[in-house]
Amino acid sequence: MLIAIPSEHTPGERRVAATPDTVKKLVAAGHQIVVEHNAGRHAAIPDAQYRDAGASIAEDFAATVTGAALVLKVRAPREDEIAALPAGCAVIAHFDAWRYPHFAALNARRISAYALERVPRITRAQSMDILSSQANIAGYRAVLLATQYYPRFMPMFMTAAGTVKPARTLILGAGVAGLQAIATAKRLGAIVEVFDVRPATREQVESLGAKFIEVELTAEEKASLENLGGYAREMSDDYKARQAALIAKHAAQADIIITTAQIPGKQAPVLITTDTVAAMKAGSVIIDLAVDTGGNCPLSRSDEVVVSDNGVQIIGNSNLPALVAADASAMYARNVLTFLSLVIGKDGQYAPQIDDEIIAATLVCADGQTRAADLATGSAPVAAEVETAGATA
Ligand code: NAI
Repeated sequence: MLIAIPSEHTPGERRVAATPDTVKKLVAAGHQIVVEHNAGRHAAIPDAQYRDAGASIAEDFAATVTGAALVLKVRAPREDEIAALPAGCAVIAHFDAWRYPHFAALNARRISAYALERVPRITRAQSMDILSSQANIAGYRAVLLATQYYPRFMPMFMTAAGTVKPARTLILGAGVAGLQAIATAKRLGAIVEVFDVRPATREQVESLGAKFIEVELTAEEKASLENLGGYAREMSDDYKARQAALIAKHAAQADIIITTAQIPGKQAPVLITTDTVAAMKAGSVIIDLAVDTGGNCPLSRSDEVVVSDNGVQIIGNSNLPALVAADASAMYARNVLTFLSLVIGKDGQYAPQIDDEIIAATLVCADGQTRAADLATGSAPVAAEVETAGATA
């Protein structure tokens, strides 16, 4: 089967959906691989390495995808790319399906779309979980980005020229990104405090040596936070008010805040209000990992550095994994390769296992129809038969 690996043309996207390692495995399985010229240049993969792995190189997007049955991408195809895709092919990518605007164009050409961000959080699917592999990188890179803007040291230093205090870091959201941010900030010597709506994260936070701060919960709230498959849910207004007061108190003392709170398929919750920013110290830094879905801070802007009147720097990098493009691509490509075992049959032809729950969750359009019921309303993906949070820890 012909499998195409185009370059990513979205501004700022530096990753690629296959590496020489995954190409080699696909070639060994009998597939013909075409990679677009320079697809791996930001991920430290020259064309020659793809060639050595058995791929051929095509000059542009159209030449790469010509005749392809499968197209592997990081970002979902843009409208002009859809026009160049072969009718009836299948695309595997991070579609951000809840807000992807081009399903009609895909359906018009009977192109199948597999939205990898919808892989369910079950043990069997962990090796295909692009949200986890990329969030891990984002959490690590967020801390390094903060150090670039923070005008002081992270660790404590005692020198003849005086003693330097360690940076107080507040991390909001202790999911995959948050936990990696905690580990990275601790390694750099910062004091780390953490908040998450899921009380179950306390143990993980404390095992990394950070302090968990928490909102008192009512019995009803405790019950509603159970059995959500690792995902947070939207909380009541009353809870949000108590949470805002707690965060404002800790933010006022923080030097660095990293916010990672997301609600799948929805706008991110506001955790750092403009009033909270106004009470923060000059020179402090906020890294808003949720900037792409509305932001955890209303002042953050995608791919901009906003400086508040009182000197707080609010950084809204919308694609931190792209800054670690080589490892991010390697992990993403391995996720894709594992996923392919569910869409390629024993005879090496395109044959998706339609009854498999991973395929059922990810195949958002096929045969000219949008299949996922929640996409029409824009509501959150329903995690069927999810396993308990922490399974990947
Ligand atoms: P995410 O990216 O959806 O959210 C990040 C974090 O923000 C979560 O911990 C969430 O509880 C928190 N959050 C949401 N709203 C918040 C608010 N208002 N205030 C504070 N925090 C808020 O989640 P992520 O990182 O993708 O996964 C969350 C957890 O799911 C993981 O830590 C892991 O335990 C579990 N998981 C399980 C998998 C499996 O069983 N296969 C695979 C991946 C994750």
